Amino acid sequence: MRSHYCGEVRSDHIDESVSLCGWVHRRRDHGGVIFLDVRDHAGLVQVVFDPDTVESFALADQVRNEFVVAIEGRVRAREAAAVNPKMNTGEIEVLGQTLTILNRSKTPPFQLDEYSEAGEDVRLRYRYIDLRRPDMQYRMRLRSAATHFVRNYLNDQRFVDLETPILTKATPEGARDYLVPSRVHPGNFYALPQSPQIFKQLLMMSGFDRYYQIARCFRDEDLRADRQPEFTQIDIEAAFVSEQDIMDLAEKMVAGLFKELIDVTLPAFPVLSYKESIRRFGSDRPDLRFGLEIVDIEDLMADVEFKVFSGPANDPDSRVAALKLPQGDRLSRKNIDDLTKFVAIYGAKGLAYIKVNDRSGGMAGLQSPILKFLPEAVVHQVLDRLDAEDNDLIFFGADKASVVNDALGALRCRLAEDLNLYEKAWAACWVIDFPMFEQTDARAWTAVHHPFTHPTGSVEEMLADPGAVGSRAYDMVINGYEVGGGSIRVHDPDRQRAIFNVLALSDEAAQSKFGFLLEALELGAPPHGGIAFGLDRLVMLLSGTKAIRDVIAFPKTQTATCLLTAAPGEVDGKQLRELSIKTNL
Ligand code: AMO
Ligand code: AMP
Repeated sequence: MRSHYCGEVRSDHIDESVSLCGWVHRRRDHGGVIFLDVRDHAGLVQVVFDPDTVESFALADQVRNEFVVAIEGRVRAREAAAVNPKMNTGEIEVLGQTLTILNRSKTPPFQLDEYSEAGEDVRLRYRYIDLRRPDMQYRMRLRSAATHFVRNYLNDQRFVDLETPILTKATPEGARDYLVPSRVHPGNFYALPQSPQIFKQLLMMSGFDRYYQIARCFRDEDLRADRQPEFTQIDIEAAFVSEQDIMDLAEKMVAGLFKELIDVTLPAFPVLSYKESIRRFGSDRPDLRFGLEIVDIEDLMADVEFKVFSGPANDPDSRVAALKLPQGDRLSRKNIDDLTKFVAIYGAKGLAYIKVNDRSGGMAGLQSPILKFLPEAVVHQVLDRLDAEDNDLIFFGADKASVVNDALGALRCRLAEDLNLYEKAWAACWVIDFPMFEQTDARAWTAVHHPFTHPTGSVEEMLADPGAVGSRAYDMVINGYEVGGGSIRVHDPDRQRAIFNVLALSDEAAQSKFGFLLEALELGAPPHGGIAFGLDRLVMLLSGTKAIRDVIAFPKTQTATCLLTAAPGEVDGKQLRELSIKTNL
């Protein structure tokens, strides 16, 4: 039907006859001639119809935006005054000879070049139109290039692409499961996989040695800008490997992806321990594009009268820390009030600060709501520790350690964004030495990664003090986003049982949930490990957007609905009866 893509016609084609297909982007009537800008994914081309071609001219007069048309015509140079250097096809136009309307379109719900005026709801409701826009086309094609690159890279490294079930048993990754009722087993349910974790481990036991899959995962969890209920992992597992083997392979793959797709050379990936990352950046996914490190000051606050600081300073589960914003005098009182509200989201009860107007002026050179509560000597020790200079602004956090980490960690990212404090465009790192378990409430332990992660130390040490045990896990972080995570796995059934015990799964419960895995571990399981990347998050970073929805063709909203199809939806009574299901609404 066509000889060229619209956006690829060039002056080389002058005097050639071309057949083009596409959408009418714009129609202009100019004193007797009609101009149609015709669009396909490659771009726009200008087609001119003059009244000499009576029939096509009459049709051209009828077309409207987003009509689907086929055109035959002859390429000609534009007059000098009409050349448009901003368009790839701006040197030429096509003199239309025949025009066929392949399909008509109602007035679209939004104009493609005015999409930003349409709310995101409208864009998602009419996603197929939104996807016609060049930046959406770019992102989807970048996604395709990313999976293409990854497949080539892993195939070259002798990895085997294998699929694992979607209708399966629960695979714990810390979220709720999506369940699918079974018709033939009334009252029983499949779970959609939160990841292919257990199956990829079983494949190592089957001798596949190196596995990968571009795998769809499903998690019913609170959604955020970088989270979707269904998303895609680049899932990798290998047998007979160390942490370093997987980290090297993964780092080369991601560095290659950035180089190949957007010509960015990622600087070497520093390796941070979990503890160091939390201490310096308040987060286990530190954004290293800028400094603004968090500095501990509890030793200085232990004896002050200001209870807000001395209380946490004397509590081992708490933290008192400071964050210095150089030239913080650019923040107004209102800015600081807004930031105080911002840290409250993370549980902070306030945001004390000291403004350093003139350091040589002693206490009189400082401005702060907490000066009256602190001895002068302590204030100077704080300023010394933070290397404070004139015009700096120092923020303080004092509370349970998790609150201070979350609040000051988020504050440093917010300041960097608001004030554009980035020193580099890209910063990737590894975070390692995670704890194996964390305590959710007084007694219950949960796995920080998942229960198949290999802990450090012996089984006896783990059972004696789960909180002291580390794990052989590693996360990859780019620009403050956790893009991937993995670990060396447990391949010893006794150790795996002991982990389930720490997680308060009795032997019977472990057997009923994971008996098949425990059994497999008894039947020749090699040592193995792996990693999974969030493909959507990688493509989000590669394409420079902050919303994961922008890199998924048909994403869901924050409330996990699809506005296009109106899923989830009701089903009829017959279907429910077949599934032996009664709703209780
Ligand atoms: P994890 O749960 O860390 O590990 O997931 C791996 C990566 O997947 C991405 N990711 C998500 N992306 C979008 N929306 C979500 N809801 C979402 N949840 C996770 C993140 C994350 O780093 N089986 C293990 C991997 C392993 O141990 O090999 C796992 O799933 O980028
Ligand atoms: P207050 O004594 O409550 O008036 O607090 C004095 C200053 O300390 C105010 O600027 C508060 O914002 C700040 N503040 C109160 N609680 C905390 C806290 N837990 N961490 C940091 N600053 C706080």
